[in-house]
Amino acid sequence: MPFTITIDGPAAAGKGTVSKAVAAHFGFAHLDTGLLYRAVGAKVLTGAEPIAAAQTLQPTDLENPDLRTQTVAQEASKVAVIAEVRSALTDFQRNFAAQGPGSVLDGRDIGTVICPNADVKLFVTASAETRADRRYKELKERGADVTSEGVLEDVIARDTRDRERATAPLIAAEDAVTIDTSGMTIEEAVAAAIAAINAKRG
Ligand code: C5P
Repeated sequence: MPFTITIDGPAAAGKGTVSKAVAAHFGFAHLDTGLLYRAVGAKVLTGAEPIAAAQTLQPTDLENPDLRTQTVAQEASKVAVIAEVRSALTDFQRNFAAQGPGSVLDGRDIGTVICPNADVKLFVTASAETRADRRYKELKERGADVTSEGVLEDVIARDTRDRERATAPLIAAEDAVTIDTSGMTIEEAVAAAIAAINAKRG
């Protein structure tokens, strides 16, 4: 049976970095499910209709270099509210999780909706200020024209939309282990995640 690890949490909590490191550590495949919603959002920004965009999404759509921008992130969280958009992306995520020897999927609803029977579920979080500060530095390094206040507003707006939506809202699964990375370095967050997974693996 393939081993499935889900890593959910709010924007910029360190899920991506932790997921990549965990996948490399265990020799598992990794899927950043946020990229799927970002790719749909990017298509909508160029005039596509959200449900049709999700239903016709192609692997090459995930290679769009603009997917990491704040504009696309906001649009992603708007299309992510639409139940039909979410259901169009479900099979791809579940098929990914079915591959051996195991996989790590990060997102918002992986432990609750996409893979409710996952072997290990983590909920990686941090204070809004910590998350905004990390995202600000990351965007600045990529040369983006952003302010720290603007990034904080963006993170809070997305969190609110993600938590309050009716379909698959952002919430920790009942059986998830929560890791608050606020006071942690990347290395400490990765070590905490690996320790939590090993504890569950037995
Ligand atoms: O994780 P990332 O910040 O790239 O996600 C972008 C947006 O996609 C999120 O704000 C959220 O609205 C949506 N998303 C989602 N479910 C997932 C992953 C991302 O609704 N599993």
